[in-house]
Amino acid sequence: MPTESDSTLSPHSLKKMAAEKSLEYIQDGHTVGLGTGSTVKYLLEALAPCVKAGLRIQGVPTSRETATLAIQLHIPILPDEDAWEIDVAIDGADEVDSHFNLIKGGGGALLREKIIAANAKQFVVIVDEGKQVTSLGVSFPLPVEVVPFGWPSTMRAIERLGYQATRRVRDGHAIVTDNHNYVFDVQGKALENPSMLAQQFKDIPGVVETGLFVGMTSILIVGTPQGAVIHRHPSTV
Ligand code: A5P
Repeated sequence: MPTESDSTLSPHSLKKMAAEKSLEYIQDGHTVGLGTGSTVKYLLEALAPCVKAGLRIQGVPTSRETATLAIQLHIPILPDEDAWEIDVAIDGADEVDSHFNLIKGGGGALLREKIIAANAKQFVVIVDEGKQVTSLGVSFPLPVEVVPFGWPSTMRAIERLGYQATRRVRDGHAIVTDNHNYVFDVQGKALENPSMLAQQFKDIPGVVETGLFVGMTSILIVGTPQGAVIHRHPSTV
């Protein structure tokens, strides 16, 4: 339990706290969507001893990175092309607003993350308190997954909506997602009306998916210096 002196807890300690709290949503026999990122790494590290102690779950990883870690930790996972019945998906986020809408995809796994969240009976989001924002997209660019074919034209189409798009690179090379696509980081104005905007982006040929997760979160768990706080979306209460 955090104490008063824990006001200096690092974002990583707060992520770990939220991740460990989310174990409450995993039950014996569950099929569990396993997100991607540093917060989910804490979840997997907390889940592994439970599996070792006899908890029977099957994971559905949202990325190769998560699949690799789950295998290393002896957490059973289902194949990518299985007909999963996901009881709960647990994932991090880059930003969350007061309506529980999210920006995701900082790690480039947004497409698989969204497929798995959309197919889960319950979607639990785990974040440190620094991820809570008033308006999405003011400080964190929106990741958008696009097919490589004709990507400069896709970029121009996004820019005609009034945004700036940058193709994500690492070490001088374009990042390629698990689905063999590119990621654009899109910014320039606040993402007002995220639902409409997500559809506008998806109407552009070449755009596969955006990191806007609108109306998907059932439970939000926030790591704070006072402890992990659970918020239930009004539609789930
Ligand atoms: C991965 O593509 C992302 O959606 C992550 O869930 C998000 O970037 C949160 O990452 P951290 O848990 O590392 O902050």
